Amino acid sequence: MFGEDKIGPASVADLVRDDGLVHSSVYTDQKIFDLEMERIFHRTWLYVGHVTEVPNQGDYRRKTMGRHPVIFVRGDDDKVRVLMNRCRHRGAMVAEVDKGNVQHFRCPYHGWAYDTTGKLTTMHYESGYKGLVDTETLGLDPVPRIGEYRGMVFASLSPTGRTLDEHLGAAKSRLDIAIDVSPTGDIFASHGMNRTKYRGNWKLVGMDGYHPTVLHASMFTLRSKSGQGSYRDPWGEGSESVTRHLGNGHVMLDLTLPRAANAEEQVHHYMELPGGPEYIRDMKARYGEERALFLIGNHGDPHIGLFPNMQIIGSHIRVIIPLAPGLTEVQMFPMAMGGVSDEINQYRLRRHEFSYGPSSFVQPDDTEIFERTQLGMMAQVNPWLNLTRGLTREHRDTDGTTVAGISDELTQRQQLMEWRKLIEQETV
Ligand code: FES
Ligand SMILES: [Fe+2]
Repeated sequence: MFGEDKIGPASVADLVRDDGLVHSSVYTDQKIFDLEMERIFHRTWLYVGHVTEVPNQGDYRRKTMGRHPVIFVRGDDDKVRVLMNRCRHRGAMVAEVDKGNVQHFRCPYHGWAYDTTGKLTTMHYESGYKGLVDTETLGLDPVPRIGEYRGMVFASLSPTGRTLDEHLGAAKSRLDIAIDVSPTGDIFASHGMNRTKYRGNWKLVGMDGYHPTVLHASMFTLRSKSGQGSYRDPWGEGSESVTRHLGNGHVMLDLTLPRAANAEEQVHHYMELPGGPEYIRDMKARYGEERALFLIGNHGDPHIGLFPNMQIIGSHIRVIIPLAPGLTEVQMFPMAMGGVSDEINQYRLRRHEFSYGPSSFVQPDDTEIFERTQLGMMAQVNPWLNLTRGLTREHRDTDGTTVAGISDELTQRQQLMEWRKLIEQETV
């Protein structure tokens, strides 16, 4: 175990080893968590929100970037910004509730007010500041860098570093799977959000293809009993599914091949829904037969994790918010599709609720096992975790990404390699 003075990037790097062994302090230690905030969450690109969460001028949502409270807002100039939720007077948060529509953010402490572009417009008893301040320079601070990919807004608290385009890299074409499942190429993350908070580390969330057939066995049994078929196959040892590393710690449980092969069954199901035949027709018209069937067979689910804080699983965008080494909030935003009937969007939402709702068949199992894992890791007579599964099966795919079997721990290893790289960097 490292002690007070041993902690530092050099020793932290030793905790994630090339041979697949990982020291559990990576998940439990407060100093490591502090380093993660400083060197990962306060530097790299984070997913903030989708533009459809703030469709109208003055719409805002409170968000968190590492330890920074921020406001995701569409200004009265129609531009979407990420502003620090911190009054320029003495630091109080100016957005008091999680979401709303405003003309101004008026600080509840002494009444300074800012417009929806962040500009300071009013100082209470302004004459006291005569000759002392330049109001032009006292707006809400914007996040140093902001970028967007097809409606998905990312931001970085570092003014320098790789561009969003470089950061996303090969992940972009996988994000397209979630967007192109709409026949108009529009998705809406504006229909609310469900969240869960668990007493476990943020890095425990998802991207593990080894556990579903065990931890979620009850769900598979239920599905096959209700005649919805067994989803075991895409997860089984012999399946065509793979774990895939897309670069920069972005990983994927790539179920696309078996799911695409199952597309006709999905088409048949859609054809029975109101608006279904039109959906299939419009998809084929826009994307061509092959791509349309690929997208429909996959339900627009890339099953992807963008390091460090975003995943797209099923039909929702998942945001991971670390609160402490052993406390994490996960927010899930179901995506509705543009250009389809309400019934089709309701079908997707019911599927989301089945697996990821508050009393569903997947998410509560995950939450429970994360808490048990966090507790188990407190037994540190031997603190090493074994993430070696499939290490010798890793290989390069034709597109340059790295793959291994669907139940291999390539995904966790690659996330932790990116984690290690960022933690080791003293400057950006
Ligand atoms: S802290 Fe905002 S007006 Fe004083
Ligand atoms: Fe799970």
